[in-house]
Amino acid sequence: MKNIFAFIGAGNMGGAIIEAVCRKVAPENVFIYDRDEKKAAELSEKTGCSVAKSAEEAAISAHFVFLCVKPNVLHDALRAICPVLGGKVIISIAAGVAKSSIKAVLAEAGLDLPIVRLMPNTPVAIGKGMILVSPDKDVSDEDVALLLEALEPGGLTSIIDESYIDAATPVFSCSPAYVYMFIEALADGGVMAGVPRDKAQSYAAQAVLGAAAMVLETGKHPGELKDEVCSPGGATIVGVEELEKRAFRAAVASAVYEAYRKTTSLGK
Ligand SMILES: NC(=O)c1ccc[n+]([C@@H]2O[C@H](COP(=O)([O-])OP(=O)(O)OC[C@H]3O[C@@H](n4cnc5c(N)ncnc54)[C@H](OP(=O)(O)O)[C@@H]3O)[C@@H](O)[C@H]2O)c1
Repeated sequence: MKNIFAFIGAGNMGGAIIEAVCRKVAPENVFIYDRDEKKAAELSEKTGCSVAKSAEEAAISAHFVFLCVKPNVLHDALRAICPVLGGKVIISIAAGVAKSSIKAVLAEAGLDLPIVRLMPNTPVAIGKGMILVSPDKDVSDEDVALLLEALEPGGLTSIIDESYIDAATPVFSCSPAYVYMFIEALADGGVMAGVPRDKAQSYAAQAVLGAAAMVLETGKHPGELKDEVCSPGGATIVGVEELEKRAFRAAVASAVYEAYRKTTSLGK
């Protein structure tokens, strides 16, 4: 049956996708296996998905098999389930791991299967995520459609050529970490100025949410939107100057570029 999903690895990112998929697909058709039994049990409790006793047991009846383990253990995790993978679609979310290297592992076992590379971010867990989807030419249109439908509760999906995935990964998939740091720092500044911590944190998060929506909904350049907040001789431009003095934008751009360089090394 095509609407059966297996997940090998149910950690931070796998867990977020499992939560999303279970909002669209009957949770009993979502089989998960994690070598940390507690993690799998907690997710099952939360979503109603089925916990398998082994990776093979999770994969055997599924049509879509998600590999949600760290890049350095991906190939071994895949090798372990090759005997039950005939006829299935393989989906990898591992950062920096090319489809060609997954194809090579499958070929060792005499398998030639359709592969999809996904790059998600953790806000998928609450339906506010972004998922880049790169199917290879062997994935049928029907399977792509079924996959996109199952991922829909996670947020926006976008089909993209694999050659862009590594470069895009830090921009949207690593960046939630940077944004959390920014929100924390905004709240710290508010606390320094006398705002209670809980209020400072929610004001900061709401400002980031609103500013992101302004960029997306107005289509204006972020620099133009920044100018609109800065009254001549006002307080905001003084803060902008302080950020410029400390090379805020250069620091963020370098963080993204360094994360990109690290991403490209993960699959090697
Ligand atoms: N975190 C993100 O924001 C993010 C974003 C995009 C893509 N990704 C990709 O998502 C993948 C998973 O990352 P993550 O952050 O979710 O890692 P994670 O939280 O460590 O989750 C991976 C889980 O898989 C388990 N595991 C390892 N080998 C296994 C095996 N052979 N069979 C079953 N379970 C196994 C791990 O158990 P142990 O802890 O016992 O090893 C762990 O519970 C990575 O390839 C990463 O590149 C992550």
